[in-house]
Amino acid sequence: MAPTVGKVGDVPAGSVAAFEIEGKKVTVANVEGRLFAFDDACTHMGCSLATGSLTGTALTCPCHGSVFQVTDGSVINGPAKRPLLTYDVEVIDGKISISLGGTSAAEDRGGSATVPAAPSVRAPQGPTTASPAAETDHERRRAALASVPLFADLDQAELDGLEAFTFRKQFAAGEMIMEDGRTGNGLYVVLSGSVEVVQGIASGRPQRLRVLGAGEPFGEIALLGDWKRSASVRAIDDVECMGMDRWAFLTHLKTKPALAIRMLQMLAGRLAKADADADAGEFVVGEPLPQESQDD
Ligand code: FES
Repeated sequence: MAPTVGKVGDVPAGSVAAFEIEGKKVTVANVEGRLFAFDDACTHMGCSLATGSLTGTALTCPCHGSVFQVTDGSVINGPAKRPLLTYDVEVIDGKISISLGGTSAAEDRGGSATVPAAPSVRAPQGPTTASPAAETDHERRRAALASVPLFADLDQAELDGLEAFTFRKQFAAGEMIMEDGRTGNGLYVVLSGSVEVVQGIASGRPQRLRVLGAGEPFGEIALLGDWKRSASVRAIDDVECMGMDRWAFLTHLKTKPALAIRMLQMLAGRLAKADADADAGEFVVGEPLPQESQDD
């Protein structure tokens, strides 16, 4: 039997809401009383579609504007290229059930559910039957966010607000994640595996500055502007990261002025410390990379 995830009132007509089922985040869209369920993660870079905007049956991703057809998960407009996986929905006694057996994206699903009447009150998004695995994933993402110096002073509610804009991404061993001299789009936090921060690859004399492991962030400054990266970051082994794009972060910040002011204060403090360190003559010395890494 498909698990119950919430009430029809959780998804008023013309809106979307996210639920967690067995550790998986699924978004439900209500199109004139018909419910459609699909993966919450955008197939472009994994942003949460529960914060996207629904117009008719078209759902626009908040990060880079990919548009998906909620009736079958197909892509209407990129940059996403792959359709969303969709799921069968049922409404029984005013409760929403979703079967994770799912249907392939872009099939004629016929699996939508009709709600008896359009609810008038929007209930909070989120899990109503969160499994331990879902809770663990949530905590893991929140801990990853808390590890970012820029977010160090945020409380749990603020971290939860930011979590909706995160995505997961995997990199194979040896894969370049960020390139020195190229404009960055956002930050990553290592969830598993390890990466190396390297300078001088283009010159043929690469130097490893640091190795980062689980819970360590990189690329944070790109959240605030499109400056060029000052070093490359490469996966040492298979790596899973949690990411956040600048566009999504700044869009969120525009609605949270108090949060923006606190971050400004924190950045000012870091600037002052950097000045003090520079005055004290502190600097970073890299180590030459092993020969095989210099071939990249
Ligand atoms: S368009 Fe959705 S993550 Fe880029």
